[in-house]
Parts: sequence; structure tokens; C-alpha cells
Amino acid sequence: MKKTPENIKHEIEKLVKDLNYHCYRYYVLDSPVISDEEYDRSYRRLKELEERYGYILPDSPTQRVGAPPLEKFEKVKHTEPMLSLDNAFSYDEVKEFEHRIKRFLKSEEEISYTVEPKYDGLAIELTYRKGVLYRASTRGDGYEGEDVTLNIKTIKAVPLKIEGPGIPEEIDIRGEIYMDIDEFEALNRERGGKGEPAFANPRNAAAGAVRQLDSSVTAARKLNLACYGMGAAKGAEFKSQWEFVEWLKTVRFPVPSIIKFVTGAGEIISVIKEIEEKRKDFPFEADGAVIKVNEFDLQQKLGVKTREPRWAIAYKFPAHQGVAGIKEIIASVGRTGAITPVALLEPVRIGGVTVSRSTLHNWDEIQRKDIRVGDRVVVERAGDVIPHVIAVIKDERTGNERPFPPPVKCPVCGASVEKEEGAVAFRCIGLNCTAQVQERIKHYASRSAMDIEGLGEKNVELLYRKGLVRHFVDIYRLRKEDLLELPRFAEKSAQNLIDAIGRSRKTTLARFLYSLGILHVGEYAAKLLAKNFRDIEELYRIKPGRIIEIKQMGEKIADSVSRFFNDPENLNTLKTLQHTGLEISNPDYEGAKPERRPFAGLTFVITGTMPRSRKEIKALIEGMGGHVSGSVSGNTDYLVLGESPGSKFKKAQSFGVKTISYEELLKMVEERGSVASRQ
Ligand code: IVH
Repeated sequence: MKKTPENIKHEIEKLVKDLNYHCYRYYVLDSPVISDEEYDRSYRRLKELEERYGYILPDSPTQRVGAPPLEKFEKVKHTEPMLSLDNAFSYDEVKEFEHRIKRFLKSEEEISYTVEPKYDGLAIELTYRKGVLYRASTRGDGYEGEDVTLNIKTIKAVPLKIEGPGIPEEIDIRGEIYMDIDEFEALNRERGGKGEPAFANPRNAAAGAVRQLDSSVTAARKLNLACYGMGAAKGAEFKSQWEFVEWLKTVRFPVPSIIKFVTGAGEIISVIKEIEEKRKDFPFEADGAVIKVNEFDLQQKLGVKTREPRWAIAYKFPAHQGVAGIKEIIASVGRTGAITPVALLEPVRIGGVTVSRSTLHNWDEIQRKDIRVGDRVVVERAGDVIPHVIAVIKDERTGNERPFPPPVKCPVCGASVEKEEGAVAFRCIGLNCTAQVQERIKHYASRSAMDIEGLGEKNVELLYRKGLVRHFVDIYRLRKEDLLELPRFAEKSAQNLIDAIGRSRKTTLARFLYSLGILHVGEYAAKLLAKNFRDIEELYRIKPGRIIEIKQMGEKIADSVSRFFNDPENLNTLKTLQHTGLEISNPDYEGAKPERRPFAGLTFVITGTMPRSRKEIKALIEGMGGHVSGSVSGNTDYLVLGESPGSKFKKAQSFGVKTISYEELLKMVEERGSVASRQ
């Protein structure tokens, strides 16, 4: 293999080191020292050098994304079981916990503890071998979880490599993967825009993201990490939780935002109060505080009772829940025709807000929870999230409760409904469904779309009712005189709306695409399209294959985008819209990219021990357009041969399959890769 020149190696190593440092400043410390543009410039330079020379360090930031989707997750046994925590629901229970510990240890002296927020996410185990992230696994049943390494690598706060003195030979670091509330809300807005059901809370959103077979979906979900514990370790000599967390900080792991060292029950409770007080300002959801005995030898003595350690407890904050009766259930029709059941509640105050509606998400959920009209239900409100029903209080049923069956017709326009295969939502298929049309106009004018100030819910409904706006094209035909005849408008408000419509004519392709309300195209997908297509005309009559070529675009989006841009009526609308004087610029366009599928049509089989993991090699081959198969056959083009190969080698010989080493594979990648990029 051609050797990478020393000076290039140095440049790559320096870029990796610098970029990782800036990533840490940005994602862990929340205090960047360079601009995003500077970061992007260095990142692009690194990517270019890596592609040209094939010299890729395991902790290179480019290794965080780009793996092709998996078929399933492998199972992983935890060396030390991942336990759960006993709960305390009152300060008295915390005091009891503290007394129990002293009794158990027969200690007269005060015991020291750490107290930190309890992150509401999902537990993860990160295994580092010789400082390099080797594997990330979910908790599973505590003994066996799933290998989610590729997904976890996309999380920028997760160190790919740890450096410094005293790095243990092997160490399992545990923490919580979570989603910030802001991100969660943005994600739900985006899903709403695509007609997809919202996640009930940030924990579900984070868990869904971690369990994606396609790591590019995880990458797009912006997850975060807080590390709080240690599993099995070889060559680690930490004496206490405090010492361990201090070490975590020095090797750049994100740790809980508050960790306090205290002695005795009184101090524990004052820190719990402090966390509870500060909780509303946390960017993440915390559902309690975790109290741990600090000294590891005392933890050892205290041991474990069935599935929970005796040395720790979770104090749970009172939940934002209330109980209310369901007066009625209605079916509401969204922009894409998705029909969502909504419970109308007897008003109830939860966490200082009056709640009178709650989403029931879909009929599968209604059935699973057996929710009926007339039921008394527990409703939860988390942050600014739409309230949802947690459970039915079945003991309070009188027998008069009525089930709410799934719709057979659209409740608004009476058209037929359908349920896509595998989907949970029913959808109205009526092309002219008033509910859909109004929702589409509202979406078109909304802030993240065309941003027409003053064209909100109420005005859209009014203009629709009066027959002035039945389509977004009509927005541009509105005249001040028409508005002045309506009850909601006076001279100034009418002029303001006309001005706002005028201002909104100047827009970007990403915004415009999002505004069109194409099924599955939210803000993120719209931006991706804008990056890849110079202007809207390039999308006219597009084939799905052209869209699937774009990384991160799946079949579903490709299908719906191509269906949209092949529909003659839609094309007509687009042309009419352009004639209304829209000025669509595209600052996101990244230029035409050469196709990089030099291994297309080639099948590889891997056997024997390799210098890199199977998954990484598979990703490398598939990234070049090749296919990796698990067994040798007459269709195999190359057998990639590692040390101590198994029977596949013999079989390959019998088929006359060409064998190559890992180094030869890299050479092929380098040669063909650079040919492709020069095309
Ligand atoms: S310590 C022996 N610390 O809560 C278990 N857990 O209900 C040690 N969690 O599975 C866990 N924040 O996923 C610990 N600061 C924190 C935590 C935390 C969230 C989760 C964790 C655990 C669950 C137990």
C-alpha cells in the first residue's frame, strides 16, 4: 500500500486532535472557542485528506457518521450487571435510607455521599479498551443489552478516545443518554410538520433514536450524555465516586451538571432541595436526584439486594400529573390527513397550568391503554410538551364509559380513511378535505415555513370560510380591500398583513420546500434537499432513485418527494406560485457531487481476525457501494482474509474467489476512491 507521507500524517493527527478538542468545548463544556465556520473548514480538510490517503484514526470525528444501516443489533453481555435504583418519594424515606446504611455498616460516624440530578433518559455502557471506545451497549434486562456502538458514536459528547495518565487497560463507563428539552420540542415540531406522531417525552425520543438501525437517523436527533458510574474495569484504582467523577472530568467525559459531596441526611436533603429548585432551568429533563455512598469500599460492603444496590437511592420529584375526567374524544385531522384522537378533559390544574385537552396519539394507544369516553385518567404534562394520558383509573369506572372506535370516514370531509402498512395513524385520503387544506395553509404561512406574520390559525380559518383563501396561491391574490370587509381587519391590520405577504416573497429553497408540506419532509429533510438541488426546477419530475442517492434520505421520503414533483397539478401550482413573484434563493446548495460508488456490483466476504471491527470494515465497503455477504458463494468477488481464517477460506478457494488482505482492501479503497472523486 502506498505510504501516507509523514507530513500528511502529522497534519491529519493534528486536525483530529484539534477538532476533538473543539468538539469537547462545544458539546461538553458548552463554551466554544472557534466559530462553526472554522470548525467546518478544518473538518472538510480532514475528510479530504482521509479520503485521499486512507489514513483514518479511530477517534477521527469523521468516524462518527456514515455507517450503513444494520439489519439488527447484536446482543452484549454486561461484565457487571447494570442495576436499577430503589426509589424514595419523600424526605423521610431519604432519612430512612441514610439510617439503614449506618445500621448496616454499624457505623457511628457520619458517612459521606454524592448527590446529583437523575437524568431522565436511557442508561448506556461505554466500553473503552486501551482508551479507545470499543463498544456501547444499552442496559437491556440489566445482564444483556444491545450493541448500539455505531449510533452512540454519532453523539458528539461521547469521547471516541480518552487520553492522559492512568488510562485503565479496559473500563466500562456508565451514563445516561438523553435529549435536551429544546431539541425534543424542535423534533416534535418537525414530526408534526411531516404528519408524524409526536414523542410523548424526551426519554422516548432519545430511546427511539438510540434504537435506530440507521445511525444517520440517530445522528440527526442530537443526543447528549452524562456519565455517572463505573462498571467492570481492569487497571483502575479509584477509591470513591468523587475521585472517579473527577477523573471522568479530566478525560473529558460529560458528567451531571451538579454533583455535591455531603455528609449525613441533613446535607443530602438540602442538596435535593437545591436540585429541585434549579431543575426548571436545566436544559434537560430531571426526574429526581440520585444519592450514592461515596467510598467504594463501603459500597462493596453494602452490596446489592436482588437488583438494586444498597448504597444508592433515587429520590423522585413529584410528577407533573393530575387526574381528570374525559368529557369527549374527538378526531382531529392534520395537514397531511393524519387523524389524531384528542381527549377533551374536565379542566385540571397541573404544575400551574390548566389542562383541558390531551392527545391520545393514535388508536393503537387507545386500545393499549383501554381509554374510553367518561373515564377518569391520569394526565401528565412534562415541560411545554402537549399533555398526555398516562393511565386509566379503572377502579373508578361506573359502567357507562364508551369506547371510541377508529374512524371509518374522515370526520371532517367524509372521505375514506386508510392506514398505511406498518403505520399507526389513520389518514384521510380526501384531496379537498377542508381540514387538510386549512392546516396546509396554516403550515405554509407558519414561522419556520414562509413566515407570514398575521396569517395564523384564526385568520386562515376566517379567510377560508369567506372563500378568499382556498389554496396558498390565493394568499398572493389577497387585496387590502377584501380584507377590510372582514370583521377581524381594520386599516392598519389589513395593511400589515399585505406587507407581511410581500416581505415573505423573498425566501430560501429550504423554507419553500418545507412550506409545501410534502409528506415526510420536515425542516431537516427540506434543508438536505436544498443542499443537493440547485433550484426547484431540478426537482420537477424527479425519480425516487435520485433522492435515495442523498445520504440520510430514505425510501419513504424519496417516494413522497418524487410523487409530489411528478403530480401535474402540483407542478401547475408551483408554476403559478412562481408567477406570483416569489424570489427563491438557495444559500444551502453545496454543488453537484461526484458519484462515489466505485465498488458497486461487487460482493465481499470477510473472514478471520481483522485489525478493525467487522462492522467498520463492512461500513467501509458499503460506503463505496459494495455489498458484504456472510457466506462465500459463486457470486463472491473478493474474500477479505484476516488472521486464522475459518472454513470460508477453503470454500473461497474451491470457488476460485480472489482473496485479498485488509491492507489490499484499503489500497483498493484508496485507488478507486480517488479515481471516483476525480470524475
Ligand atoms: S446511578 C446502580 N446516577 O436511573 C445503579 N443513575 O432508576 C446506578 N439514572 O438505570 C445508577 N441519572 O439509567 C445513576 N445520576 C444518575 C442517574 C442515573 C439517571 C438512571 C440510570 C439507572 C436508573 C435507575
